[in-house]
Amino acid sequence: MSKRIDVEHLNVYYGDFLAVEDVNINIEPRSVTAFIGPSGCGKSTFLRTLNRMHEVIPGAYAQGKVMLDGEDLYGRGVDPVTVRSMVGMVFQRPNPFPTMSIRDNVLAGVKLNNKKISKSDSDALVESSLKGANLWNEVKDRLDKPGSGLSGGQQQRLCIARTMAVKPDVVLMDEPCSALDPISTIAIEDLIHELKEQFTVVIVTHNMQQAQRVADKTAFFNIEGTGKPGKLVEYDDTATIFQNPREKATEDYVSGRFG
Ligand SMILES: Nc1ncnc2c1ncn2[C@@H]1O[C@H](COP(=O)(O)OP(=O)(O)OP(=O)(O)O)[C@@H](O)[C@H]1O
Ligand SMILES: [Mg+2]
Repeated sequence: MSKRIDVEHLNVYYGDFLAVEDVNINIEPRSVTAFIGPSGCGKSTFLRTLNRMHEVIPGAYAQGKVMLDGEDLYGRGVDPVTVRSMVGMVFQRPNPFPTMSIRDNVLAGVKLNNKKISKSDSDALVESSLKGANLWNEVKDRLDKPGSGLSGGQQQRLCIARTMAVKPDVVLMDEPCSALDPISTIAIEDLIHELKEQFTVVIVTHNMQQAQRVADKTAFFNIEGTGKPGKLVEYDDTATIFQNPREKATEDYVSGRFG
């Protein structure tokens, strides 16, 4: 079930270094939101705070609130492992477990969450997740072959199927197409359109056309200089960000004048 995300006064640190400062953002369910901005402005850092992956890095922490349908993910007693099953993540480079079969790759996240599942239920889950990731027809006859035998674009869809199998509320994607060819990229973008019927989707992208093709809303992050924290500069409907932004920095960035 798709859920809304409300972030209040979020500061994100690596040790003493304030990497992202005072982010406030409201992300609607059943929508796609793109994060854009120059390299180093904190897009990945901020994205990882939305499922508490940030704190896996030694010394890294966040202050502020991230609420999923009103429940603070950083609240007392909240288990980060549960958070990560509600808020799934797809990375820049497809990262299937290379020696594991396609089937076991799809089930890997479910097993990680210690869910016991029968053979018939797992078969059904593998099929529905692979269908959801638009990969079923390409792999249904080789489910027991290793995941590493797939093309890059297929591997990325396998990773999306693995994320979906856990039935999250939110799917985070950090530049999911940057290692893919144009055809695979379009396949993932088509999939993102379908995913928003079920999930809240947040995608980091350096591809301005991609943001305009897939995102309902776009958030522009920026950084004033090296060692300064990244900030959310402007957040609005994608068409407004690209055609009629409020801030000059946004206009300069989306028109390719810097970054
Ligand atoms: N593991 C880490 N330890 C310390 N500092 C880090 C770490 N990861 C990122 N940073 C710093 O945090 C800041 C934001 O980095 P981040 O990777 O979030 O940027 P980004 O906007 O995703 O950039 P890119 O577009 O290049 O992926 C940078 O100054 C970066 O050097
Ligand atoms: Mg990044």
